[in-house]
Amino acid sequence: MDAQSPAQPVDLCASSELEDGGRAFVFDVEEHGRPARAFVLRHGGAVVAYLNRCAHVPAEMDWQEGQFLDADRRFILCSIHGASYEPHTGRCVGGPCGRGRLTALSVTEEAGRVAWYPSPQIRPVCFDDPVPGAP
Ligand code: FES
Repeated sequence: MDAQSPAQPVDLCASSELEDGGRAFVFDVEEHGRPARAFVLRHGGAVVAYLNRCAHVPAEMDWQEGQFLDADRRFILCSIHGASYEPHTGRCVGGPCGRGRLTALSVTEEAGRVAWYPSPQIRPVCFDDPVPGAP
């Protein structure tokens, strides 16, 4: 797919895998061609997705894989220095993330499946890119 093509949805998981306020589904992406991780979770009934990267320091935030919410399951919490983010906007609401926010990914939920719509910047991992130096 080139940068001008409309994004094709990428199937991520079944809706039933995302318990409200529960564990997130974590997946690999490429951001500007570099490996990164992202997650999708359900909060207040809505499905939201972000890059797994804190706005304070560019580090992954989950304290165990897929565990992003605080003890009250109210905010997305960075396990490193405690930055808190509002789950529906990704906006920092406390801690050292200042006026930062998480990088949102576009996701939909339809017919019992959750899908991600890649952007030119954040794309699926491509396993068939030519290997440098390979014939
Ligand atoms: S790296 Fe997330 S709060 Fe510091």
